[in-house]
Amino acid sequence: MIEAYWQLARRPFANTPDPAFVYRSESFVEGFSRLLYDATELRGGLSLITGEIGCGKTMLAQALADRLAGSACDVVTLQYPKVTPSQMLAGLLRGLGEQRPPRGKLAAIELLAATLSERHGNGRRPVLVVDEAQLASPSLLEEIRLLTNFEDRQDKHLHIVLLGQPELRDRVRRHPQIDQRVSLRFHVEPMEPKDVAGYVDHRLRVAGRSGAPIFTGDAVATLADRSAGVPRRVNTIATQALFVGAMRHRASIDAELITDVADDQE
Ligand SMILES: Nc1ncnc2c1ncn2[C@@H]1O[C@H](COP(=O)(O)OP(=O)(O)OP(=O)(O)O)[C@@H](O)[C@H]1O
Ligand SMILES: [Mg+2]
Repeated sequence: MIEAYWQLARRPFANTPDPAFVYRSESFVEGFSRLLYDATELRGGLSLITGEIGCGKTMLAQALADRLAGSACDVVTLQYPKVTPSQMLAGLLRGLGEQRPPRGKLAAIELLAATLSERHGNGRRPVLVVDEAQLASPSLLEEIRLLTNFEDRQDKHLHIVLLGQPELRDRVRRHPQIDQRVSLRFHVEPMEPKDVAGYVDHRLRVAGRSGAPIFTGDAVATLADRSAGVPRRVNTIATQALFVGAMRHRASIDAELITDVADDQE
């Protein structure tokens, strides 16, 4: 309904990590470029991406996977790391094309070492992305650390990207063996107010809006304030505002309407 009212081809503020909607703010570009470099060129071992809830870590990982599709880097993503080390190894092997990973852990590790070495010989550059890594058990984190040991004299055979909420940074710090293997640290910050304006405009254009701005300048400023620049909160408030604005037959969305729906969210 809101799409038709606001002349949009699709939902502009869905809370999904759809790479088509990626807004490349200055800080996103910096994080993305550094992550891309670490995972594809440097392959230093472990990239650690942290950030507050809803700030865009998963979106960053999706953008990376999207960019690497069809390249020499095979990306395997573990979206939910509340699994045992054996389950993670099996998932990684499956992601690398092994239809039937062995049951035993030792056999799985041997197969993984052989697979990674063979891939490396063929110029492939596998990347394991572990999202929500703050949920990983100590034994899973230890297993992930051991995966960075697959290497030859020149290169790592597997690059790992850990994404998680800020407590992941503290956990890693408490484990020198993991901490020392971190080749990139990047913290995803909330957006600056000027980026919220660019973000709103960008998402509306990707969703097919071509006419006059829907949100007034004051509305965007209020949206930046009430969301604290957190993209997921921007999406939620903006979606509600579009809905209420359509119900009230508004021609645009002003600051007062943003305040109304943001109050309802609290
Ligand atoms: N750079 C961006 N461009 C466009 N949309 C974004 C961007 N960053 C985040 N978003 C939007 O915000 C939503 C929330 O971001 P995301 O899921 O990546 O946060 P997160 O940091 O992974 O949160 P959590 O800690 O809860 O896992 C995404 O689904 C996406 O719609
Ligand atoms: Mg996430």
